[in-house]
Amino acid sequence: MNYRHHYHAGNFADVMKHVLLLRLLRAMQRKEKGFLYLDTHAGRGRYDLSSAAQGDSQARKPEWPEGIGRVWRSTSQPEAVSDYLNLVRSCADAGTPVGDGDEPRFYPGSPWLAQAVARAQDRLFLCETHPEEFEILRHELSIARRATLQQLDGYTALRAALPPLEKRALVLIDPPYEAQNEFAVLVDGIEQSLKRLPAATLAVWYPLTQRARVDAFFDELQHLRLPPCWTAELCVAGEATALGMRGCGLLVINPPWQMDRELGPVLDWMKELLRQEPGASAGLHWLVPER
Ligand SMILES: C[S@@+](CC[C@H](N)C(=O)[O-])C[C@H]1O[C@@H](n2cnc3c(N)ncnc32)[C@H](O)[C@@H]1O
Repeated sequence: MNYRHHYHAGNFADVMKHVLLLRLLRAMQRKEKGFLYLDTHAGRGRYDLSSAAQGDSQARKPEWPEGIGRVWRSTSQPEAVSDYLNLVRSCADAGTPVGDGDEPRFYPGSPWLAQAVARAQDRLFLCETHPEEFEILRHELSIARRATLQQLDGYTALRAALPPLEKRALVLIDPPYEAQNEFAVLVDGIEQSLKRLPAATLAVWYPLTQRARVDAFFDELQHLRLPPCWTAELCVAGEATALGMRGCGLLVINPPWQMDRELGPVLDWMKELLRQEPGASAGLHWLVPER
C-alpha cells in the first residue's frame, strides 16, 4: 500500500474531518466520565507543510492552500471552526513560519488534535501500520499522556480495544481507500464494533469520488440494523468536475445529541469558503433517525 497522507494534509477534506472530529471530542467531554478515543488509521500525527518537507510531492500541487490555507486567512469563523483553528495555530506556531509568516507551517493530524484536548481521565489508542508513519507518530505523540500507540491493523484494533473499561468510546475510522474491498471491510468493522459496544460513537470518513460506491455502502449498512446515525457531506465541486475528489463525508453512528443542529451552519460556512468550482454543496442527512 502506497498511501501517504502528507500529500493531502490540510486539504479541504482534512478541514472538514477535523472540525467535526473536534466537535465529537468536545461533545464526549460533556460528561465527566472518561472515554477511549480509538484512531484506527492514525497517520503520522503532525504534518510539515513546507515544500522541502513534501519531498517527492514537489511535482504535485499542494492541497493545503485550498483547505487550511483558506481557513487560516478567513477573517471570521463560526465558533466550531475558531475552536479548530486555535488548535491548528497552536500546532503550527511550534515551527518556523514559511513565506511571509501568514501561512501555516505545520498541520495537526487527528491524533494530535485528540491529545491536545484529552483530559486526565480520557485515553487514546492510536494505530498506524506504515513503518515510517508509525515512527513519526511515536515521535510526535511522545508527550501524550495515557496514549497507546500500536503498529497494528486498525480493524484488528476495533476487536482488541472494544469494549473499553470506561464503557465509553469515540472511534475514528479513516482508511486510505486504496483497497478495492475497503467498504466491505468497513461494514464488517462497524458490525463488530457495535456488537462489542453498542453505544460506541463511530465516525467513518469517506471520499466522494464515486457516489455509487458510497450509496452501495449505505445500502449494506441498512442490513446491520444500525442505531441512530447521520452523515455530513461537503462537496467543493459539482458532479461534472475533473477533480479527483470532489467531496467527502463523515458518517457518525450514535452521534452526540443535537450535534446535527450545530453542524448545519458550520457545513454551509465551509462550503462557501472551500468551494473550488460551481456546484459545491454541503449537508447533513439522517440515515437512521433518532427515535
Ligand atoms: C487518511 S490517513 C489517516 C489520517 C489521520 N486519521 C488524520 O486525520 O490525521 C490513513 C492512514 O492509515 C494508514 N493505514 C493504511 N492501512 C492501515 C491499516 N490497515 N491499519 C492502520 N493504519 C493503516 C496509512 O498509512 C495512513 O497513514
